[in-house]
Amino acid sequence: ATTLGSAAAGKGRYFGTAVAASHLGEAAYVNTLDTEFNAVTPENEMKWDATEPTRGSFSFGAADQIVSHAQGKSMKIRGHTLVWHSQLPGWVSGLSATDLRTAMNNHITQLMTHYKGKIYAWDVVNEAFQDGGSGARRSSPFQDKLGNGFIEEAFRTARATDPDAKLCYNDYNTDGINAKSNAVYAMVKDFKARGVPIDCVGFQSHFNSASPVPSDYQANLQRFADLGVDVQITELDIEGSGSTQATNYANVVKACLAVTRCTGLTVWGITDKYSWRSSGTPLLFDSDYGKKPAYYSVLNEL
Ligand code: XIL
Repeated sequence: ATTLGSAAAGKGRYFGTAVAASHLGEAAYVNTLDTEFNAVTPENEMKWDATEPTRGSFSFGAADQIVSHAQGKSMKIRGHTLVWHSQLPGWVSGLSATDLRTAMNNHITQLMTHYKGKIYAWDVVNEAFQDGGSGARRSSPFQDKLGNGFIEEAFRTARATDPDAKLCYNDYNTDGINAKSNAVYAMVKDFKARGVPIDCVGFQSHFNSASPVPSDYQANLQRFADLGVDVQITELDIEGSGSTQATNYANVVKACLAVTRCTGLTVWGITDKYSWRSSGTPLLFDSDYGKKPAYYSVLNEL
């Protein structure tokens, strides 16, 4: 195969990218997207601040642009994200517990209803655990006012709204076996034991020299898969350049392909020009949409 998407499809996987609606007017951006990728995640357009900036008023315009483009090209679409402490409008943090519970469930219901039938998987809850060794939940309006049960409640509401969408928990620094991933693992195990609806776990996989590709990446993906969920690499980017970066990318692809339930990989952007890591060069295409060594190593591994 000669593209990332077709090569991944040959292995029964998808190869996706984060997409920003604001770049869909740029020919080189769209051409690379359409040629190379068969899945998309809206980079910001489905987040709470974009979709419900004031309580009860929903705006789907930018996200709809991405969804209709992706549908036109038969790409899979990952919904990102329903419940997250970041990019959360100020009105949400001001609510009482009772109002917050209502607002959270309404937000989930409205988004999933609007996109019903179009989204293969939703990141229902994003980044709910703290970094470091505590294994504790991260402070957020949801955690602080609703307690640990908010995650379970979000997943139950999501399942009731769109029973056909896969429901995922997504986080970062959970890529290897460590205290944070152990805490997520314990939650998923508990959910499966109690019948709380969860289908998949996303591993963001934002790597740099301080947070390199872990040597136990594959083992970690496998232990989650063994709980009975699919796993995906959801926001991959790796700082660096040249052959080192290429080798790191190849190792990520190898780890996913070695795990039967690792159903796909998504890089967090097409070109270095628009990476959220403005200081780095973490993606597969350079600022002129040239294919980097990392591109060829990924294609070669698929
Ligand atoms: C990032 C986007 O790429 C940026 O454009 C935005 O300013 C901040 O959010 N974890 C996530 C993603 O789940 O939504 C984040 O995306 C990167 C970290």
